Amino acid sequence: MGKVVLLVIFAIIFTWVAQAQDQTSWAKRVDTGKEVVTTLQFYFHDKLSGSNPSAVQIAQAAGTNNSSTLFGALLMIDDPLTIGPEPTSKLVGRARGLYGSAGQTDMGLIMVVSYGFTDGIYQGSSFSLLSLNPAMNPVREMAIVGGTGLFRLARGYALAQTNSANSNGDAIVGYNVTIVTYV
Ligand SMILES: *[C@@H]1O[C@H](CO)[C@@H](O)[C@H](O)[C@H]1NC(C)=O
Ligand SMILES: *[C@@H]1O[C@H](CO)[C@@H](O)[C@H](O)[C@H]1NC(C)=O
Ligand SMILES: *[C@@H]1O[C@H](CO)[C@@H](O)[C@H](O)[C@H]1NC(C)=O
Repeated sequence: MGKVVLLVIFAIIFTWVAQAQDQTSWAKRVDTGKEVVTTLQFYFHDKLSGSNPSAVQIAQAAGTNNSSTLFGALLMIDDPLTIGPEPTSKLVGRARGLYGSAGQTDMGLIMVVSYGFTDGIYQGSSFSLLSLNPAMNPVREMAIVGGTGLFRLARGYALAQTNSANSNGDAIVGYNVTIVTYV
């Protein structure tokens, strides 16, 4: 009996000392240990053609037209995100940001894009994707580096696969996204 009481007292003292070491007046550390994994599936509509494109070229280098990969081209996008691949499918958000051709010998788009959502509990939440998109690969893996709202402190990845594309460069891309956040 005495041993158990002693052990409990030691445990209490140890916890108290450990906590005290973690606290200062200006900073605090809490180990919640609670991760949340969110998976998302949606389609990204990148439209370069027509009178109302969602992707517009805003800059290019002097030699861009001579490059087979259009190295140096920079585009601004405001692309709809929908549940299904059809453009008329339910809108759940928009992908806003930049992509540019960053590959001289093979197609590599540098993506700096915020994916913001407007549906359900995800309304007002966004994640930030910053990654190279090897656009000619059947499946492109891209890194998610942060987020807001429900995606605060997000880290994760997106797997993107082209659903359809035409000769104007318009493309509909399927995304499977896995994001880890904290409670
Ligand atoms: C692009 O190619 C054309 C024709 O080959 C050439 O005259 C021109 O100098 C090149 N422009 C640049 C910026 O490299
Ligand atoms: C590049 O090509 C586009 C489309 O063909 C043309 O509109 C543009 O003027 C060209 N730019 C340069 C710098 O040659
Ligand atoms: C995305 O998920 C769907 C459904 O699980 C699957 O059919 C598809 O192959 C996945 N695509 C990629 C690129 O992972």
